[in-house]
Amino acid sequence: MASADGTIMPVDDVPADTTALFRIRERDNGETHEAVLIDTDDGIEAWLNHCMHFTHIGLDKGSGAECRNGEIVCTNHGAMFEADTGHCTFGPCEGARLADVAVTVENGTVRLADDRYEFVATGPKADDDVDLTSTSNVEF
Ligand code: FES
Repeated sequence: MASADGTIMPVDDVPADTTALFRIRERDNGETHEAVLIDTDDGIEAWLNHCMHFTHIGLDKGSGAECRNGEIVCTNHGAMFEADTGHCTFGPCEGARLADVAVTVENGTVRLADDRYEFVATGPKADDDVDLTSTSNVEF
């Protein structure tokens, strides 16, 4: 169930050595996206859950992204992204940057703070994320 105030999860539940998945819906077109939270040296960061090499490839495939030395690793072709800046330091998309999602931490809770999106739920994409009022998910 989506929370009206954008509450995603308690900050203590955000891992430092991997990522936690959640879903957001784009206000403009109703499209649902996966995003990841990660606890970095600079605080909690959130990124859309896709590699910048091939954007249909998720970094977190459902059980947490591979992370090494403060970097998120795409296991498909080895691209590495700084967890705190999203900057790709190595791999086929070196120099690119992960798509950011704004979040804030208040009273021990991580909240979505990005006007482009509304919070849907934690966890990977689910069948019931399809917005029946939108035609954007219909394939011809
Ligand atoms: S899809 Fe991520 S490095 Fe190629």
